Amino acid sequence: MTELLKQLTQINAPSGQEEEMRQFIRAHIPPTAEIKEDALGNIIIHLSGHGKKMMFAAHMDEIGIMVTYVEDNGYLRFTNVGGVSTANALHSKVVFPGGIKGIITTGDSKKKDLKLADMYIDIGAKDKEEAEKLAPIGTTGVFCGAFDEIGGCVSSKALDDRAGCYVLLEALQQIGNHENDLYFVFTVQEEIGLKGAKTAAYGIEPDIGIAVDVTMCGDGIDGEKMAVKLGGGAAIKVRDSGMIAHPAVRSLLVETARENDIPFQFEVLSGGTTDASGIQITKSGTPAGAVSIPCRYIHSAVELVSMEDLHSIVQLVRAVAEKTI
Ligand code: CO
Ligand code: ZN
Repeated sequence: MTELLKQLTQINAPSGQEEEMRQFIRAHIPPTAEIKEDALGNIIIHLSGHGKKMMFAAHMDEIGIMVTYVEDNGYLRFTNVGGVSTANALHSKVVFPGGIKGIITTGDSKKKDLKLADMYIDIGAKDKEEAEKLAPIGTTGVFCGAFDEIGGCVSSKALDDRAGCYVLLEALQQIGNHENDLYFVFTVQEEIGLKGAKTAAYGIEPDIGIAVDVTMCGDGIDGEKMAVKLGGGAAIKVRDSGMIAHPAVRSLLVETARENDIPFQFEVLSGGTTDASGIQITKSGTPAGAVSIPCRYIHSAVELVSMEDLHSIVQLVRAVAEKTI
């Protein structure tokens, strides 16, 4: 079970370069499913039914960095692709296409208000010419972060949102009879503005949209108070900084969890959003909500999720997909 998740997390697919993920998804869906790919590169799996159109979305892309400038001595300056904090970036390893690795470092790590612009990537190049060959301007890299099992949890880079992709793939394998007209969408470019979810929803025109993505946990020693706990079950979104979940979608998720004895908790996230907020305001609007995966250390190379939570979330997605509404 963790093998599939491990494979998903170790694929390198920054926003806009999701090709490896597309190939992987195509190879891991039920043979009878109908697959479409749209102009942006979303993978849309359709399981047809006569009932309501229900769209589930998990994003294939991950955060990364892009080379902006090459110094004379061969160090690379870079910018972020998606939400990259200085704390998570400093002294992380990144990998570029072709397997070229680098270390994000800085001349003075004690500097106050350290910014990404103060940092550079050391790829071991001897000069500008060599560095430009290995990682030309515009090259995108992703963070290196091995997959490990820690207690009942797993840790890796890109659990945001390969954990969501894993949930959709597992649910697809388990789905039984369903009245709903189901769309399982593996979206592109979520991290830079929910691009794929918007175009996919425009094309599908779902009656209801549900994103499956990670959310923060409030169970650290200090930091902002938040009710979501690792191991506390599926986090049903009430709101985040991009949307208020549609009350009917929220109720559908809560009732389905109760009927099936699936552990759940409510999520109110003050910073961040998901594909659901893109789906919600596409065309003339779609009732949307989200099932969130509690995750510690989001947007770092050591994101941490609970396998038990993932199991609960697979069950909830499957049960909602099968439920006639
Ligand atoms: Co993210
Ligand atoms: Zn995400």
